Amino acid sequence: MKMEKLKVMTVFGTRPEAIKMCPLVLEMKRYPDYIEPIVAVTAQHREMLDQVLDLFGIRPDYDLNIMTAGQTLYDVTDRALMGLRDVLEEAKPDLVLVHGDTTTTFVGALAAFYRQIPVGHVEAGLRTGNKKSPYPEEMNRKLTAAIADFHFAPTENAKHNLLKENVSEEDIYVTGNTVIDALQTTVKKDFDFHNPKLEEAIRSDHKLILMTTHRRENLGTPMRHVYQALKEVLKDNPGAEAIFPMHKNPKVREVAERVLGDMERVHLIEPMEYEPFANLMARVDIVLTDSGGIQEEAPALGKPVLVLRNTTERPEAVTAGTVKLIGTGKEDVYAATCRLLNDEKYYRTMAEAVNPYGDGQACKRIVSFLLNMHGWPVQRLPEFKSGM
Ligand code: UD1
Ligand code: UDP
Repeated sequence: MKMEKLKVMTVFGTRPEAIKMCPLVLEMKRYPDYIEPIVAVTAQHREMLDQVLDLFGIRPDYDLNIMTAGQTLYDVTDRALMGLRDVLEEAKPDLVLVHGDTTTTFVGALAAFYRQIPVGHVEAGLRTGNKKSPYPEEMNRKLTAAIADFHFAPTENAKHNLLKENVSEEDIYVTGNTVIDALQTTVKKDFDFHNPKLEEAIRSDHKLILMTTHRRENLGTPMRHVYQALKEVLKDNPGAEAIFPMHKNPKVREVAERVLGDMERVHLIEPMEYEPFANLMARVDIVLTDSGGIQEEAPALGKPVLVLRNTTERPEAVTAGTVKLIGTGKEDVYAATCRLLNDEKYYRTMAEAVNPYGDGQACKRIVSFLLNMHGWPVQRLPEFKSGM
């Protein structure tokens, strides 16, 4: 008897989801006789999503184009839910895969549940234990976990978080994070940035600081304090230079330009395409960020990360010593950055390459799970073990 292909719809909407889901879509495409991958994007992000889709050469089957300037959580939820209702009705997938913790993630899971379509959650089980931080991502993850049928946990620690919430062990599969799959195919020794200013900064003997900020709970005063701290760091350290690809959110850019706009040795630039960004990360000295994904990538590249948050759902690299949570206090950011710039021994203890988040095989594992689950004669690959 000929078995039907498994129709798997991936739903994503923002830059980080795309970076972490596109490699999975490409892996599914390697099995055209077994799997029919369908890509639906909400486009909660527009330009920042399109940059990634272009890089991976993926053209969505459905694009809801929901992004509006200054969108609220209500806008994103409402527009994504109504759009996905119709997409699911038309495409009738057997399974929906969502990723991580954005509002698209939660709504994608909810929309599938309303049509009684099974849901797989990629990057499942990350928790801070504080529903206000990160906001609303911690709650998005918990709500998605409550709906999901299959939980692709990147690490053992994430699996334990799910077990504590009474998720059945047989529905959890430890895969590693797909971001490491993406990173391994992107970072190259001889990468050409085609950007004279960046090339000059990299060639110079300056110590390079790479910064990104976007978290909702950091908008306003916390972000202003971080930028003021960076300004002081640059004033007091003439050998330091900062590169700051600013998120497209106007609430980030206005403050950044006001505080840092007239400062020497800081490059306020547009969000970078993933390929040059990852290669830049591999060449800077220090990373300052409130990003989730960068907390996973930079440790793999041996770059010390100062996290501009009070909580993290990614404790593994903190335990390993490559990541430090420093919050957004002006003095704290100033002191932690200056120490890394000036204390060579301390710097070296943090700059150990560690890879607790994956081994580059996460997508292969997830696809092996899907094929096996559907009854194809394929073994599930062994789970990811970080060895930490
Ligand atoms: C969203 C996610 C967050 C994730 C982050 C990754 C939610 C609630 N938040 O936060 O979990 O960490 O993406 O970056 O799901 N904008 C553009 N062009 C773009 C992207 C954004 O102009 O390509 C502007 C728009 O004005 C938009 C604003 O940024 O209204 C905020 O975007 P939004 O997705 O609501 O929030 P993020 O802070 O990006
Ligand atoms: N990133 C990028 N260009 C940039 C800044 C970040 O491609 O200018 C990538 C980064 O490598 C990581 C992802 O975007 O994979 C992180 O996205 P973001 O910080 O927006 O979201 P989060 O991970 O916090 O959800």
